Amino acid sequence: MTIRVLSVASEAVPLIKTGGLADVAGALPAAVAPHGVEMTTLLPGYPAVVKALSRPRALHVWDDLLGEKGRLLGGKIDGHPLLVLDAPALFQREGGPYVDSSGRDWADNWRRFAAFGRAAADIAAGAVKARAFDILHAHDWQAAMALAYLRFAPPRDGAQVPSVMTIHNMAFQGYYGADLFAGLRLPPHAFAVDGIEYHGGVGFLKAGLEAASAITTVSPTYAREIRTAEFGMGLEGLILSRGDRVHGIVNGIDTAQWNPQTDPALEARFSAKALGKRVANKRALESEFGLETGDGPLFVVISRLTWQKGMDVLLECIDHLVGIGGRLALLGSGDKAMENAFHAAAMRHPGKVAVRIGYDEALSHRMQAGGDAILVPSRFEPCGLTQLYGLAYGCVPVVARTGGLADTVIDANLAAVMGNVATGVQFSGVHYASLADALSRAVTLYWQGDTWRAMQRAGMKTDFSWSRSGKAYADLYASLIAEKT
Ligand code: ADP
Ligand code: GLC
Repeated sequence: MTIRVLSVASEAVPLIKTGGLADVAGALPAAVAPHGVEMTTLLPGYPAVVKALSRPRALHVWDDLLGEKGRLLGGKIDGHPLLVLDAPALFQREGGPYVDSSGRDWADNWRRFAAFGRAAADIAAGAVKARAFDILHAHDWQAAMALAYLRFAPPRDGAQVPSVMTIHNMAFQGYYGADLFAGLRLPPHAFAVDGIEYHGGVGFLKAGLEAASAITTVSPTYAREIRTAEFGMGLEGLILSRGDRVHGIVNGIDTAQWNPQTDPALEARFSAKALGKRVANKRALESEFGLETGDGPLFVVISRLTWQKGMDVLLECIDHLVGIGGRLALLGSGDKAMENAFHAAAMRHPGKVAVRIGYDEALSHRMQAGGDAILVPSRFEPCGLTQLYGLAYGCVPVVARTGGLADTVIDANLAAVMGNVATGVQFSGVHYASLADALSRAVTLYWQGDTWRAMQRAGMKTDFSWSRSGKAYADLYASLIAEKT
């Protein structure tokens, strides 16, 4: 029997991306397909998404989706079924999925993503002819209201399907004032401690976590961490109380997009057996960034520039990094003060530190291929994907020991080095002394040529494809269906 899953996400590659959620939502359909799951993705009809549909036709119409008109359009995403909620008043606007052109959150985000959830609940319950589903799978707060509507305001005669709520980042919860509760059109009893009420206001993610048949997060370590106040961001009690329903399933990477043997973005393609060819990529990267040419270690960063990612601590460590003979190429955007501070660091260290502010997918591939080590000093990291791309490309990860970073990188301690299984450098606690020490360790290991190459090879050999985690999701869906019947 094929299990039919409706995957509800606010972004998915290749149509719309602001972060790792898009990589994961985009890769899941292919990841679960070999295990008897047909996944349909539901996305909001942002301009880029609607434009990508060829010959769209309306499969369903809403006259009053929280006060707006909406149509459901059908299409394909990488060959898998796609549904798009075309509600122009909510989603047809210039800017990003969540922010306007000047970077401010859209003031009506609560209504945009509540309407998205309302539509998703209707679809999951069978509102669209010939599209029935066995499981509703929602990602992050933007999709979480689907579960609340299914629980508290299901369509009449609709099917009650089991649901999965995946937390990609507990830091974003969709928390609003109680005054907008009326606008959500939920019955009064939904405003309750085990419903949508949260610290006197309404919590979208919270409501989803309460209603979900199963909760997943994107690594086993993060699944444990969110039971504590430090990482649970206020929801640790809820996670603890639902403990037996919480699973950690680590993200995979799309090995067709991220393969150094075939990647068209690279100056020179290479493999674990032909690591020498990486040098051409390093030279190309140095020249692209205007860095001095040299044999010394070239560190790279590809990241949102935020507190979560520890970028403030990296800024403090830049003089140390240069002082021990390192160079740094950074690609990222985010916090304006951090962007300026990185520019200032590049001015201070011409030829040694170079910065690109912006978003550039192809450049991110060239950096993984040309850099010697990728820095990921995150304070928390539910999974993290850039360290996985680094492993696949022989760009050795230097990471904080947290979340998915702890689960996917093997620290080069003595035992791991002697056993030839080390793949990177880990450090505990994100502050100056720990990161500076990790940078020094990385530089020492780098100059021990054979050890470094063994680390590169061990990382490149590790299987971070979706095969294992695709099966884990499929098994979870099957268990929820079995539980229901
Ligand atoms: P998060 O989703 O928290 O930002 P992840 O590591 O899970 O972190 O995913 C980030 C994704 O976005 C990766 O695919 C990474 O390569 C990509 N990325 C981040 N910043 C940039 C950038 N400035 N240019 C290109 N790609 C970027
Ligand atoms: C979030 C997390 C990141 C994770 C990504 C995909 O953006 O911050 O750690 O890899 O989601 O699950």
